[in-house]
Amino acid sequence: MNGFEEKDGVLNVDGVSLTTIAKEVGTPVYVYSASVISSQFEKLKSALARALPANRQPLICFACKANSNISILSHLQNAGSGLEIVSEGELVRGLKAGFEANKIVSTGVGKQKSEIAACLKAGILQFNVESLPELERINQVAGEVNIKARVAFRLNPNVSGGGHHKISTGRKRDKFGISLDVMEHAYATAAKMEHVTPVGLSMHIGSQVFDVQKFKEAFSHIPDVVKKLRSNGHSVTRLDIGGGFPIIYKDENLLDLDSYAQWVNDIIAPLDTDIILEPGRYLVGNAGVILTEVLYVKETSDRKFLIVDAAMNDLIRPAMYDAYHGIEAVQNRNAPKQVYDVVGPVCETGDTFTTDRELPAMRAGDYAVIKSAGAYGASMASNYNTRPVAAEVLAQNGAYKIIRRRQTYDDILATELV
Ligand code: LLP
Repeated sequence: MNGFEEKDGVLNVDGVSLTTIAKEVGTPVYVYSASVISSQFEKLKSALARALPANRQPLICFACKANSNISILSHLQNAGSGLEIVSEGELVRGLKAGFEANKIVSTGVGKQKSEIAACLKAGILQFNVESLPELERINQVAGEVNIKARVAFRLNPNVSGGGHHKISTGRKRDKFGISLDVMEHAYATAAKMEHVTPVGLSMHIGSQVFDVQKFKEAFSHIPDVVKKLRSNGHSVTRLDIGGGFPIIYKDENLLDLDSYAQWVNDIIAPLDTDIILEPGRYLVGNAGVILTEVLYVKETSDRKFLIVDAAMNDLIRPAMYDAYHGIEAVQNRNAPKQVYDVVGPVCETGDTFTTDRELPAMRAGDYAVIKSAGAYGASMASNYNTRPVAAEVLAQNGAYKIIRRRQTYDDILATELV
């Protein structure tokens, strides 16, 4: 049994009952399906394989920020993925998970000297550079450690791509990338530097990009820039076209991967470069849930609250982006429907997973799942209200393993000096 399916009236993951996991590991707990991660990776890879010639198959670099658990990273590494990182911490995780350094790409607007040095010493594939001051910093650090840095410039195409304004990154007003009019100057500056080699361009217009035509619109800026750079005598051998593929939270129209791959083939492949992709959410988002127990059913004159033991510190997305997440009962799935607000124990009204949601009637002690929590769930968790970060579990072929134990209070307090 693969993915999340009902068996004998109980929701299972990769053939393991979620009630078993809840009882044995406790709640709240992030639960991932290895089979869903594998099949998402294969879906993307095979769409690209169908559309693009064999010598233009992209390197898929999983965006580590979406889910940075080392076991999840290893699972993707074994499937053939590379890694996109935004910090030295993610570099450490990636190397520990077994990624070869030459499949790791470093992005981000605020790379620190120590991070640049660590990436150079590890031998990463390239830095995606977001500003001229950053380029100078990379040149300086590369000189200090005496390792030449390969740099690609992140192009800001002025295209609004993300599913929420806080996760749109390709507009002029966003802090990301270098605008079209500055690109020739940036590339020429790098070409003159002693310790960097410009190798190409990168782009990432946003996350949960519903309006998939935006990808095509953003891509369409690339050929002109590449031609201009080449006519100025520069070499452009790599194009990193980012991530941002949407997943299902509610009833979204999904990206037609074949059309996407066809745009890559039509617009990017003729430029004769290596191609890199940086998907995060698409590979892991629908592969994970938060398994939670109902603590109380509280009825007021106005509402019926399901108070669960998961909270905004475990999944910040509803509070931060007003994000919709599906919620399902684990048992008694055919009970008569009730309308609930599902809330956590944190002392904020924003600690609300949903309002007015129709769900099978539940009682204290019942289990529920908050869906599509495999991306930007655990990786954005915090200790707010001194709540321990929840355990993480990976299910595969009818068995599960704990891939991160629940934090203890000693873990949380260990760094404080009294
Ligand atoms: N590449 C770069 C340079 C990025 O900044 C990101 C995401 C990705 C790739 C991967 O994007 P994806 O394929 O996952 O959409 N916390 C937010 C999402 C923030 C995304 C940040 N950058 C959320 O929960 O929706």
